[in-house]
Amino acid sequence: MFQRFNEEELKNQISSSKEKLEQYKRLGLKLDMSRGKPCSRQLDLSVGIFDVVKSDSCFLTSTGTDVRNYSVPAEFAGLSEMREMFSKIISVEKDLIFIGGNSSLNLMFNYFSKLFMKGLPDRNIPWSNYKKIKFLCPSPGYDRHFSITEFFGIEMIPVKMNADGPDMNIVEELTANDVDIKGIWCTPVYSNPTGCVYSDETIRRLASLKCKSEEFLIFWDMAYALHNLYGEKIKIPDIITECATYGNENRPVVFASMSKVTFAGSGVTCLAASKKNIASFIDTARISTIGYDKINQMKHVKYLKNLDNINLLMEKHAEIIRPKFEKVLQIFEAKLGGLGIAEWTRPRGGYFISLDVYPHTAKEVHSICRDCGVVLTPAGSTFPYGKDPNDMNLRIAPTYPDIEELDFACNILCEAVKYAAAMKIISNK
Ligand SMILES: Cc1ncc(COP(=O)(O)O)c(C=O)c1O
Repeated sequence: MFQRFNEEELKNQISSSKEKLEQYKRLGLKLDMSRGKPCSRQLDLSVGIFDVVKSDSCFLTSTGTDVRNYSVPAEFAGLSEMREMFSKIISVEKDLIFIGGNSSLNLMFNYFSKLFMKGLPDRNIPWSNYKKIKFLCPSPGYDRHFSITEFFGIEMIPVKMNADGPDMNIVEELTANDVDIKGIWCTPVYSNPTGCVYSDETIRRLASLKCKSEEFLIFWDMAYALHNLYGEKIKIPDIITECATYGNENRPVVFASMSKVTFAGSGVTCLAASKKNIASFIDTARISTIGYDKINQMKHVKYLKNLDNINLLMEKHAEIIRPKFEKVLQIFEAKLGGLGIAEWTRPRGGYFISLDVYPHTAKEVHSICRDCGVVLTPAGSTFPYGKDPNDMNLRIAPTYPDIEELDFACNILCEAVKYAAAMKIISNK
């Protein structure tokens, strides 16, 4: 509709938006929709964790390990109960699971470090020996994934993200013909930021990909495996079994995290992979640490108890954040619906909404919002190297602010989207 405005209508839109934005500026607001952080009400849900392991608690696990002491070699991969719990969460055999520390990103980084120093088990060609390594990066995607691959000097190739996962026609075409492509980043459940869930067909095609490189890996980040907003339990095919079906058992490396179940940055994480890959990872991990924090693992096991109980906790999270997602969507619909200048996702889980604004205006929208006191994730950050080719994607993180703040912030954002679109359209006329 905006595109059909004549010059006068566009000028009217610009001056009305400008006036509203000037008023917002004068309010001196400080609103933050930039990072996917749980709000304090969500964190309050898990404070009971501090009561389950106290000075008078029994510190022995079911296998007799005293969690206050260094790990016994057999339990270096994590407390048996913790591995069992993650095994249920990600539907992967317990023996293929390694329990890490408080950050799954740290495990991802460590996995790359090992690849660059030693290469894959059996091949033993350090990735640092290769002149070029490329990774497929479904985009919009998670900026911190991209920061890791960028750090290691890996060339990142953006791949279009569809509603059912990465565009597999492109992925198949690229991997079949380029030996330098050695992996892909995937967040298959409630992807960051679009919130899409990969279809079974996408997962099958990833597992059965015919790759020019024999070293192709799938980095499979299950960060939002449990994070349903509407009570659905998402069950996707287990990528390790699926890859094994096609003779590619060493292809997937799976990650999961309790960061958004209990405490962000103080949860427990895991890495899962084929027998060969996990054994090799553990060999290196033993050199880097005498063991991860078993006391925190015990706290999680005792507090969370089992998958049914975790799902109940996740429903409580959903009760807190679902109205926030709905508030954002309601304002987008009311203020931007039908204008033909913006599109957005309507996720059923995860932590984000992906907003596409009028092409070549996302940076401008970001900066107008900043001037009005609304902090958004920088435009471009959902693409490799921070370069969104159409400068149109913005990641909206509704969980942290309260509803009133969100209301304000989204109204400002929508006004900025309209202003920037009208300016762009008029300048193109
Ligand atoms: C897709 C994804 N993976 C991983 C993380 C971070 O996990 P952790 O806190 O375990 O490092 C996030 C946090 O936003 C995320 O969105």
